[in-house]
Amino acid sequence: MVKHTKPNLSVNIGNLVLKNPVMVASGTFGYAEEFSCLLDLKRLGAIVTKTITIKPRHGNLPPRTCETPAGMLNSIGLENPGIDNFIKNKLPFLKKLGIPIIVSIAAEDDPGEFYILVGQLDKISAVSAIELNISCPNMQKNILISQDAKETSALVSSVRKLTRKCLITKLSPNVTSISDIALAAQDAGSDAVALINTLSGMSIDVHKCAPRIGSWVGGLSGPAIRPVAVKMVWEAYNKIKIPIIGMGGIMDIDSALEFFFAGSTAISVGTANFINPGVSLEIISGLEKYMTDNGILNLNNITGKLKACEDLAR
Ligand SMILES: Cc1cc2nc3c(=O)[nH]c(=O)nc-3n(C[C@H](O)[C@H](O)[C@H](O)COP(=O)(O)O)c2cc1C
Repeated sequence: MVKHTKPNLSVNIGNLVLKNPVMVASGTFGYAEEFSCLLDLKRLGAIVTKTITIKPRHGNLPPRTCETPAGMLNSIGLENPGIDNFIKNKLPFLKKLGIPIIVSIAAEDDPGEFYILVGQLDKISAVSAIELNISCPNMQKNILISQDAKETSALVSSVRKLTRKCLITKLSPNVTSISDIALAAQDAGSDAVALINTLSGMSIDVHKCAPRIGSWVGGLSGPAIRPVAVKMVWEAYNKIKIPIIGMGGIMDIDSALEFFFAGSTAISVGTANFINPGVSLEIISGLEKYMTDNGILNLNNITGKLKACEDLAR
């Protein structure tokens, strides 16, 4: 008799246990309430909030988004209600969902703002993990923390002392070697790295001779960046031991599998939410089907599958 066992989709990210590895990427899902009439939020592996800063931010000059070939440019400029408003008005809804909530945070001027934010979030049981957004390309800064291994290390090790919650460091693709930055984050105590944030880009309307977005330069996302993201996950996987949360142009089950094969333990869906808000749930079902069809019981058996195949071929 054939024994049918359901595949186990659960994964561990530091001390965080996800019932499945599919989350929604910061900034593409608001604070989830906006999406609540469009899909069953409770089925998601986790929700990553829009990045929060200490004070409310109005964001950048419109237009803030434009479509580009196989993707989009955005320069939202971290519009958000600020930490106090978030805790008072957004977190109660998220808490009721009963799934892990990952709060993304950023500093506006001084890295010390991270300490204040982490200090506040550490006390809140509804916050399952903290994602350090040190990679936002839309902050009018010359250099981001995640573009420098020493700065990344200094920030992560200082924050590590302030919380035992799962700490995720979100990395920028706008660097020479993302694996060196990932290693710095790991060695400084990060539980996981999330990659990639958007690629710096620009688009010009030649009929108006004007940039298509208000801040001229923005962050490119969507399928156009997927090969870059997959390569970066692959590079990081070959250098670090902590889990990688892979993202960048995931649109469906096949593109999600690319990220697992390259070395992701979990994935985040971003731009695709704007086209199909239910896509993350479709990917969860697709994963279950893929594993059942291929007799794979544990998701860990597909993380880094490409490397396992490469090693076998030697
Ligand atoms: C409109 C928009 C807003 C975003 N805002 C944030 C943000 O607040 N914090 C952050 O860490 N990443 C932000 N991102 C980056 C995404 O989380 C993700 O890293 C990136 O878009 C790549 O994934 P994708 O191609 O699936 O969208 C934003 C992306 C988009 C498209």
